Amino acid sequence: MDCRRDRLRAATGPLHGLVEQMIERSGLFNDLQGYGHFLAAMHRFHACAEKALREAARKHLAPGWRQPASARLLRGDLSAIGLAPAKRQPVPVLANRGAVLGLRYVIQGSALGATQLLPRALALGVSAGRGGAFLTHHAACTREWPDYLSQLEGAELGPAELDSMEDTARQGFELVGDCLRSRCCAMEVHA
Ligand code: HEM
Repeated sequence: MDCRRDRLRAATGPLHGLVEQMIERSGLFNDLQGYGHFLAAMHRFHACAEKALREAARKHLAPGWRQPASARLLRGDLSAIGLAPAKRQPVPVLANRGAVLGLRYVIQGSALGATQLLPRALALGVSAGRGGAFLTHHAACTREWPDYLSQLEGAELGPAELDSMEDTARQGFELVGDCLRSRCCAMEVHA
């Protein structure tokens, strides 16, 4: 039988592909203007997702979750390149522990992709101290991935919570897509 990670990967693979395509086709790592758009969109996503997880932690639905530094670092990166954070997205309600693990999958898995994006950002002339703090930190968060995977596989979840896990991971990627498309950010992004 598939492990939960395989289920999540199968459920969200096409959406991950779409997000990658949006980033590539719009050239978000071709120049600083594109990179600014990427930062603004990622700030919108992480601020919203972190808030949803904070609310869930308050209701004791998020054992093992530690508030990451992403939204704060993204605000600093935006300010370093002269951009303001965009308006916040409406925050989704995470109804159970499955939903929490589903959204954590999107956030924590994206650290794997950050290892590929970091060198491209550095090639644009940003550095950890100026505009590149989020990607530098996030790429290093891959060390937390094995711990997340063992929480994912080990959590006692009923069938409804497993469904929520998959639905919420899909919704998480849809939220990333909405943030990338948002006109709040510096440019228009094409899927
Ligand atoms: C152009 C942008 C991106 C690239 C090139 C990229 C690339 C990658 C790569 C190489 C992996 C690792 C696969 C593995 O080691 O097995 C990965 C995994 C992942 N990425 Fe991305 N990624 C990008 C954007 C994103 C974004 C924006 C998100 C969400 C915010 C995201 C979410 C994930 C997730 C959840 C996984 C884990 C999938 C699994 O279970 O293996 N990625 N990505």
